[in-house]
Amino acid sequence: MTLDVPVIEDISRAIVAAQTLLAEADEAYYINDAPIFSDAVYDDLRRFVGALTSASQEFSELASRLERIGARPSPAFGQVVHAVPMLSLDNVFTDEDVVDFIAGVRRFLTWPADRELIFTAEPKIDGLSMSLRYENRRLVTAATRGDGTTGENVTANIRTIREIPHQLPKDAPDVVEVRGEVYMRRDDFFALNQRMAETGQVFANPRNSAAGSLRQKDPEVTRSRPLRFFAYAWGETSEPLGETQYDIVQRFGDWGFPINSLMDRCRSLEDILAHYRSIEAERAELPYDIDGVVYKVDRLDLQERLGFRSRSPRWATAHKFPAEKATTVLTGIDIQVGRTGALTPVARLRPVTVGGVVVTNATLHNEDYIRGIGNNGQPIREGRDIRIGDTVVVQRAGDVIPQILDVVLEGRPAHAVPYVFPDRCPACGSHAVREEGEAVRRCTGGLICPAQAVERLRHFVSRNALDIEGLGEKQIEFFFNAEDPALRIRSPADIFTLKARQERSLTKLENIEGFGAVSVRKLFAAIDDRRQVEFSRFLFGLGIRHIGETNAKRLARHFLSFSALRTAAESAVMPQGKGDIGNAAWQEINGINGIGAVVAEAVVEFFAEDHNREAVDALLEEVTPVDEQPVGEVSSPVAGKTVVFTGALEKMSRDEAKAMAEKLGAKVAGSVSKKTDLVVAGPGAGSKLKQATDLGIEVIDEDAWFERVGRG
Ligand code: IVH
Repeated sequence: MTLDVPVIEDISRAIVAAQTLLAEADEAYYINDAPIFSDAVYDDLRRFVGALTSASQEFSELASRLERIGARPSPAFGQVVHAVPMLSLDNVFTDEDVVDFIAGVRRFLTWPADRELIFTAEPKIDGLSMSLRYENRRLVTAATRGDGTTGENVTANIRTIREIPHQLPKDAPDVVEVRGEVYMRRDDFFALNQRMAETGQVFANPRNSAAGSLRQKDPEVTRSRPLRFFAYAWGETSEPLGETQYDIVQRFGDWGFPINSLMDRCRSLEDILAHYRSIEAERAELPYDIDGVVYKVDRLDLQERLGFRSRSPRWATAHKFPAEKATTVLTGIDIQVGRTGALTPVARLRPVTVGGVVVTNATLHNEDYIRGIGNNGQPIREGRDIRIGDTVVVQRAGDVIPQILDVVLEGRPAHAVPYVFPDRCPACGSHAVREEGEAVRRCTGGLICPAQAVERLRHFVSRNALDIEGLGEKQIEFFFNAEDPALRIRSPADIFTLKARQERSLTKLENIEGFGAVSVRKLFAAIDDRRQVEFSRFLFGLGIRHIGETNAKRLARHFLSFSALRTAAESAVMPQGKGDIGNAAWQEINGINGIGAVVAEAVVEFFAEDHNREAVDALLEEVTPVDEQPVGEVSSPVAGKTVVFTGALEKMSRDEAKAMAEKLGAKVAGSVSKKTDLVVAGPGAGSKLKQATDLGIEVIDEDAWFERVGRG
């Protein structure tokens, strides 16, 4: 086609304008995680530019530009399963908490108060954790933490960070995973934001800036961002790296990694607290953000004995700095209904910056909290209640939801009235009742309450449950409220039948505003990807009361398969009155280490409800929970055995005994039943020892235990 010059100019201008829009959309999508167009509009715009550029040879140069910006790359990075999980840290806030932490470590190790116990203390860097895997001394993979088990593969981007070596010296082992924090210095962050301000997009703080810069599809963009790294931990290694935390980190320094100069060894509580204060005093002057001080037991043999709780090591903790505060106006109170029906008041605030982050809402906990009454029934804030229109003090600590700490009475408007907490559910109108002794008011709507149903679905697809990408809050609400049965999702099973229902229907999801062909394809792929899911995630996703991730994991480790758990729960008979101990199935659930009667009861009650069983059955038609693999050294002489410890132990604390047994693949139970294989009894053992003898179960003492597990 031949075109007149003015027409060429007009079309060129239109192409450039549309391409600019596409580039902005890419930036919003990848950098800020806040799309400005739906996929459908984006795709249309792209096709439009494609059509214009192909109209004439004149536009070939502009067409090649489109190839660069227009092709929206897949937003997902590849996945990496961590050879050793990346755990998080427990937090402590006060000096007393630190005392407790140290006392807990000593107790676990039966380490006398007068015996030296060294801790390292180092800044807690506010960035994102990273695992760098070196094989034969070459950097092969870099992965984010993700959910701790699986992270994102960001190797190409990490290679652009100058501070990270691509090659390790000869003395490094064949396999080593060096872990640490990717971060951005404050001055670099400000400069970057200034540069980016021209595009109208800025980051909220250095941490977001580091995260956004790392999650770039194009490594060249990452290269242009001033990212840095501190090494402070490790994952898999083909040989031991050293004997102490401190020495190993120094070794990382020798290998060329940046290590933090404020890391120190502390020999007493006083040393630890003094180091904390000195880091706190320096905080404002440091070129990077930190949010606390991390303490770790220095000796690795002791770290090994202390081991891990479900998500964090027993040998470390983070001592956080006091939360940041600000004053603003409470403009309203919304009531949110959770998946168990709990009504939670949420404060709507005039936007205020607290410690570098804009806060617009905060939790108000429950109705008593608003009235100025604490959990124990005693006044808090000297009894001051919180009213709409009040000037309030907001606190934000780390990633925790901001809280309203206090009211500034001088700022109270004359017309402000005490807040009246609703006694009906705002979502379904059912009565909301508060049971004796409970702080929360709950909607009694149960299955008819849409808010609870939506929250249950959100929980089911959430990151630590089924983890279905593309099903966020907005999408769940859309599907839940859909008039068309081919689009409706009301129960977990409906998620998995959506695609088939769509195929049979004339209404097509991709024609609906906000979806688009690409996102629909991705959504169905994400759903199909979860048709096989770990047992513990599946169980957690069901949203049974008291079954958080930790308890889900405990139940999974014990029963290994969902059907075994279900059979036990459905046949369990709970104790009826004093003296009754329930049947064997009940005792089995109740006896699992860490599971008490309240949790066991919640499980049994869940499976006693017809509608729950029906929902689970429907779900099992679509999804297969994958059996849990027995953990620990599976070839040990106690692997798979159920062990009960009773009486006094002399060589180790009860907690260490349990942790050791679990590591060796045994199941530790709190009470003796027919399923018990072995009872380890120390001096002073009473009823459990008697029960074991009555049932003919093998009983051994502590020494025999050590001999049996080969640690004698
Ligand atoms: S040690 C097994 N040391 O804090 C424990 N973590 O809340 C490994 N972090 O995910 C972590 N500075 O991203 C450790 N000096 C430090 C740290 C640090 C920052 C982060 C890390 C971790 C999170 C846990």
